[in-house]
Amino acid sequence: MDSRNVRLAVIPGDGIGAEVVTEGLKVLEAVGTKVETTTYDLGASRYHRTGEVLPDVVLDELRGYDAILLGAVGDPSVPPGILERDLLLKLRFEFDHYVNLRPVKLFPGVATPLGGSRPEDIDMVVIREGTEGLYVGAGGVLRRGTPYEVATQESMNTAYGVERVVRYAFEKALGRPRKKLSLIHKTNVLTFAGDLWARTVDRVSLEYPDVATDYYHVDAASMFFVTQPERFDVIVTDNLFGDIITDLGAAVAGGIGLAASGNINPDRTAPSMFEPVHGSAPDIAGQGKADPTATILSVAMLLDHLGLTEEAARVEQAVAEDLVERQTGWASRTTHEIGDDITARVVG
Ligand code: NAI
Ligand code: MG
Repeated sequence: MDSRNVRLAVIPGDGIGAEVVTEGLKVLEAVGTKVETTTYDLGASRYHRTGEVLPDVVLDELRGYDAILLGAVGDPSVPPGILERDLLLKLRFEFDHYVNLRPVKLFPGVATPLGGSRPEDIDMVVIREGTEGLYVGAGGVLRRGTPYEVATQESMNTAYGVERVVRYAFEKALGRPRKKLSLIHKTNVLTFAGDLWARTVDRVSLEYPDVATDYYHVDAASMFFVTQPERFDVIVTDNLFGDIITDLGAAVAGGIGLAASGNINPDRTAPSMFEPVHGSAPDIAGQGKADPTATILSVAMLLDHLGLTEEAARVEQAVAEDLVERQTGWASRTTHEIGDDITARVVG
């Protein structure tokens, strides 16, 4: 990677997406990595202008990049499901982003709604399966709009798909000090899928004697996220449960403005995509109120994925220092000012 520029596709998207991505790129540039960026106009405004969501030629072009940075897509003016299914989910499925990596980490100085929790209590990584489960779009509808309507939505779980994400999770756990992996599911009710997940974790665990494993039903896990977050280190879970518990994770770790994520193709057969967990926030768009920190932390994950671990650590450190200072008067800073301050710390 050092010998050539990183080729980065940027999808600012809608609402605050463009605002936070600008700051993320500012930090990326400050880190000194040679990056060549190409911006793609995708999202609600393109949909309204041309009716297109993700044309095949754009999809093919995106495939050629080293990574993708996405702001957020979505607008109340677009019918629900169009941009989510045909843009975001399509990218995740087409590029085989089978690991959706979402750290849940309380930085020092950040306020959490969990009064007594300290940073050492909230430091986990959620690995959400990204290409299967209830999100594959399997199912259908009969007699729509009548009193006899039938709607089905099926969860797809393949031995191959479960095993590859479980293996990734064990490797991740092995690389962390606590070496602990928790499976979160609902095996007592979702017995077919749950059985596959549980057996897979048990079988793969034999190859990782140094990693301790345990299991939580998703409802109990939700409770423990709030009452005893220190129980968790690395979590592996399916697409739907992972979607839900990571919003809870974002809330306990200081809010949606700080939550970063990576849609990762660990086999590197297509580019991975990094994005803040939050959406386009139409309520604050265009006002300079958006917190760019989640995007900047997503940039750190991007650098890490590209093997630029020292650069990634510098960005995370700059964010950590900025967060400590926020205890006094951060609310008065604009999106740009936060980006500038973190950039200044990266430059040193
Ligand atoms: P949202 O995450 O956009 O906003 C929820 C609340 O959090 C709002 O009050 C917003 O002002 C606030 N917020 C979000 N990001 C913030 C930031 N960086 N700094 C400060 N405050 C922030 O979720 P919402 O309102 O449910 O969805 C808005 C649109 O975004 C919808 O069209 C939705 O489909 C889309 N969306 C897109 C996602 C993506 O592109 N990955 C993810 C989630 C939602
Ligand atoms: Mg979500």
